[in-house]
This record gives sequence, C-alpha cells and structure tokens, in this order.
Amino acid sequence: MLYQELIRRKRDGDALSGTELAAIVAGICDGSMGDAQLGAFAMAVLLQGMTLQERVHLTTAMRDSGKVLSWDHGPVIDKHSTGGVGDTVSLMLIPALAACGAVVPSIAGRGLGHTGGTLDKLESIPGYDIAPDAARLRKIVAQTGCAIVGQTAALAPADKRFYAIRDITGTVESLDLITASILSKKLAAGLDALVLDVKCGNGAFMADQGAAQKLARALVDVGNGAGCRTVALISDMSQPLAPAVGNALEVGVAVDFLTGRVIDARLWDVTCALGGQALTLAGLARDPDQGRGMLEAAFRSGKAAECFGHMVAALGGPTDFLENAASYLPAAPVVRTVPAPVSGVVTGYDTRAIGVAVIALGGGRRQAADRIDPRVGFSDIVPVGSRLGRGDALVRIHAANPDHADEATATFLHACTLGEVAPAPEPLILECVSECCSKVGTGFELLEHSKSIS
Ligand code: URA
Repeated sequence: MLYQELIRRKRDGDALSGTELAAIVAGICDGSMGDAQLGAFAMAVLLQGMTLQERVHLTTAMRDSGKVLSWDHGPVIDKHSTGGVGDTVSLMLIPALAACGAVVPSIAGRGLGHTGGTLDKLESIPGYDIAPDAARLRKIVAQTGCAIVGQTAALAPADKRFYAIRDITGTVESLDLITASILSKKLAAGLDALVLDVKCGNGAFMADQGAAQKLARALVDVGNGAGCRTVALISDMSQPLAPAVGNALEVGVAVDFLTGRVIDARLWDVTCALGGQALTLAGLARDPDQGRGMLEAAFRSGKAAECFGHMVAALGGPTDFLENAASYLPAAPVVRTVPAPVSGVVTGYDTRAIGVAVIALGGGRRQAADRIDPRVGFSDIVPVGSRLGRGDALVRIHAANPDHADEATATFLHACTLGEVAPAPEPLILECVSECCSKVGTGFELLEHSKSIS
C-alpha cells in the first residue's frame, strides 16, 4: 500500500477502510511512513474530517499498536477528563470506584498546556512510583482494586509518534485525531467502561459548549464503537474546580476530601455525578442515582480513603500518608495571603490565566523536559458568588521566592473579577452525552474488542 495514495485519497475527502488505516498505524510504528507523510496525512484528516467508522478504525488500530491489558476480574472501568484547572477528581473518584467493587487500572496523564495532570500531582507524594512494570501493576490492582499510573511505552505506542508530529504540523486541533489519541491510550488498559468529563468554560480547552458537545459526541460514539461502554458529562470549568491549584496543594485537597476533614461542594458534586455514571455503565448500579448513592457511601464510610491509602502505599508512598499527609507533602517557602482590594462579590475568574500562573510559579512545564516544583500554586480560592469585605482573604499564594509571589499576586488579582451583584448560579454539570442510537442501521458494525494478553 502506497502511503502517498492513501494521503491523496484522504486529501480528496475519501473515507479510508479499516485495512488502510491499520496500514498507516503500522507505518507510524515501524517508521516506514516518513514524518512528512504523517504530517500530510494529519493535515488531510484535519481538513477533511473522518466518518465515525474511520474514527473507530483509527482508534482501535492505535489501541492495538502495543499491548492491550487484560484482567481476570471486572468490571474494568476508568475515567478521563479533557483537562481543567484544580481538577483533582481522579484522586478521589478512582479509589471510590474501587471501593464500590470496580477494577480501576487508571492510565493518567501529565499537565497539558495550562491544565494540571494527575501524574504530576501524584508525584508530589514521596516515593509514589507512576511507572510500575506490568506484573506489579497487575498485583496492585488485584490487591487494592485500583492504581493510578502513567502510560508505558508498551501502551498505544503509535500515539506517541503521531502526537509529536501533530504538535509541529498545526494539526493538534483535529477532533478525529484528538479522539483517537485519547481513546487509544485509555482503551489499551482493557476497559469495559469509561466515563468522560468533558470540560467546558474559560479554563477548558473547549471554551464553548458547542465545541465541548462535539468532542463529547465523538469520544462517546468512538468509545462505544470500539466496544467500551462510554458516557460523557460536560461539566463547567469557568472557575477552578478545587479550592487549590498546584500539585501538592491539590493532593492536600484530595486527602481532606477523602478523610472528610474538608469537602468542597463543587468537587463533591462533579465526583459523585461521574461516579454514578461509571458504576451504572459498569453494571454495578441500576442507574446513576443509585450509583451516586453507592459512591457517597464509599466516601462516608471511609472505604474510598482506605483504597487510596492502600494504593499510595502499594506504589511506594508512605504507609501512613492519609494520616500524616501534611508532613509528607512538600511546602513552599513563601506563603502569602492576598487580601481583597475592595469589598464586593467574586463574579468570575479568568481560569486559564490561573492555570498559566501556576506554570509561571514553576508548577508546570515551559519545556517538555522541565522539572516541576510540586510545592507552588494557589490555595483557599473562594468560589464565584462569594461576598468579601475589603481586606478579607481572597487567596493564598505558595511560591518558591518573593519575586514569584509578587508576580502571582498581580496575576491572580487580574484574573479575579469583583463586582456588586452576585451572578446567577450556573449548573456544574451541563449535559450528559450517551451512546448515539442513530448509528444503528447505518451499516456501522460494532468492532470486536480484541484484548491481547498483557
Ligand atoms: N490529550 C491527548 O491525549 N491527545 C490529544 O490529542 C489531546 C489531548
């Protein structure tokens, strides 16, 4: 098969077959498709788009480009967020799902752009190993029901090269390629079900709801088409989700939540809504309401916290992490409370600017190889609608030095709007996107979810 012929046909708007897309993925992995050809193919896809069937074929070929894990017990489920600011949900949801009887091998990612990454957060726990080998991962999941780890070179290797080429050819934004990239990595963990949190708002990659709907629809249809029961919630990301942003600070928020010391209402709602959907998809709950109740019980009984503690210890972290998190989590040398400059109501945040400010503090990467400073960020962020008097605490800055703290203070004050009138409360969960029935009868065949041996 000649790559230039496949590129030409895609350029002209033809739909490629499963065999043709599998040949392209094979060419990505063995290097027989050159960088120029791969960049041209990515651009052709970006400009012409793909049918649902093509998206499924590309995703499954990328999933199968490496190992696909298999598990002795199930249901095997995971959650994925399209990325936000102060989005600590995975740290609570994954152990809670395990506490409810699911098997949760969660393949998490690093920070991307202005958004934080679960792996970066977990690495602020001393000793936590995000890259156990396959045998250890299997043992930990069998013992604790869950493990949050990173993608290894063995899982969906086609995505690594394809992503790098997209990154330098102006083709990252292709909805078809984003879908295949996200799902190929998640599905390589051998999932039966996947719940997606598609973020929408000024702290998300998809700022408007129309774009978030398109991404959610693509992910849900391709996930289901690839044999994994998939549902998406579109949730609000127009203010930081947690009251803290920054790696160790967000782990602290998660520990407070799991132990019941401080439970943020918005975090609780998003976590339980996603959990209710996940348990229903997994067949462990009759419907999302029952699933939500099961998840809430797992938090209230302390079982979710227990699973988190076991997972951290099994992956090399302290055995008493939950009890003594504050003594293990690294703390910034400069901590400064910023007072509200005037009295008023917090009417909104430039959430993206807050995410970018964490990078400027050293809590994210400017270059791919950068080491991040887990200590820095913002805490005690007050939610939109909070009424403050002049001089009341607006936020706490955690910085490596006074200059960084000055800069972060100015950025935060600029990113926060204080007004006279409280805005009308906006819903946190905007929409649920589930499997599209219209594909039935269109000749689209569900593909067998082929699981190879890990
Ligand atoms: N995250 C991914 O893993 N891939 C994309 O293409 C975009 C976001």
